[in-house]
Amino acid sequence: MSKRKSLTQYLIEQQRGDAQLPPQLRLLIEVVARACKGIAISVNKGALGDVLGTAGSENVQGEVQKKLDIIANEVLIEANEWGGHLAGMASEEMDDMHAVPLHYPQGEYLLLFDPLDGSSNIDVNVSIGTIFSVLKHKGGEVSNDSFLQAGTEQVCAGYCVYGPQTTLVLTVGHGVAMFTLDREQGSFVQTADNVQIPADTKEFAINMSNLRHWDAPVKRYIDECLQGKEGPRGKDFNMRWIASMVADVHRIMTRGGIFMYPWDKREPTKPGKLRLMYEANPMSFLIEQAGGASTNGKQRIMEIQPGQLHERVSVVMGSKNEVERVTQYHLEG
Ligand code: AHG
Ligand code: MN
Ligand code: MN
Ligand code: MN
Repeated sequence: MSKRKSLTQYLIEQQRGDAQLPPQLRLLIEVVARACKGIAISVNKGALGDVLGTAGSENVQGEVQKKLDIIANEVLIEANEWGGHLAGMASEEMDDMHAVPLHYPQGEYLLLFDPLDGSSNIDVNVSIGTIFSVLKHKGGEVSNDSFLQAGTEQVCAGYCVYGPQTTLVLTVGHGVAMFTLDREQGSFVQTADNVQIPADTKEFAINMSNLRHWDAPVKRYIDECLQGKEGPRGKDFNMRWIASMVADVHRIMTRGGIFMYPWDKREPTKPGKLRLMYEANPMSFLIEQAGGASTNGKQRIMEIQPGQLHERVSVVMGSKNEVERVTQYHLEG
């Protein structure tokens, strides 16, 4: 068997090859990967490390914070703020962006993250993860507004799933690669390259308990899937819902499928539940780089101009032909 590549080797090849990965961005990715290793260690300790349960606080979006939401956020900040590659960081768990303290060198990148995705699964020992996105700082003093760039401006995106294995999935705009954490070596080792999502699928992921709140196009799509072989789709569909976006998207990266968290009538004034900057944009970049598609039902997610840091969005992503079908149903309606 040929020798496997480490994350470091992969990144150096990206630096020398077509991607022309800038050395500062390579360093940034290495540091994020190291932080994810730290988070994985805490996750694995579970009750033994006293990391389960709630922290007794709320984040800016009104969600009760779990201890691990806060631990993961701190690990990412502490790992990244001194290296000189960043101008600032923004996170689901912080009201405003975190500027790099002035006694550290200032870099040219902005890092955004959902430090711990799938919080409701922490205490039940089900896969959770970290999602991140990298933008270029366009200059001037860094502020919340510096982060308000469309997803098409991302120079890197990735996630790390803490499941039966710890897997890092990464794009720097030249396809998608996967790395598995080798616990004995303490390093990420490449286990897949040029990941491709099949264009067709028979598997959908949506929180079905919200059915009565959905808009007509989403109801129509799911209703047709549920009719199976006898219905207009002429095939039986299977449903999967882990309730950690990171794990649901990872399944789609691995074997195809469609993931949806659509707008619903429970909160009519909010455009959706998931966060554009920390969840939808990085996942859209990865999905598109793997040949899939991602829209908010009407428009490509990565082309949305964000108006605020914690902006939410309706999400339809995964196998291309299914995403196009759902989007078509919205445009017809
Ligand atoms: P987070 O834990 O970062 O707040 O995100 C949770 C999100 C996402 O991961 C998942 O797809 C969704 O919430 C689950 O929502 P339901 O509780 O409706 O299943
Ligand atoms: Mn949350
Ligand atoms: Mn999340
Ligand atoms: Mn989160």
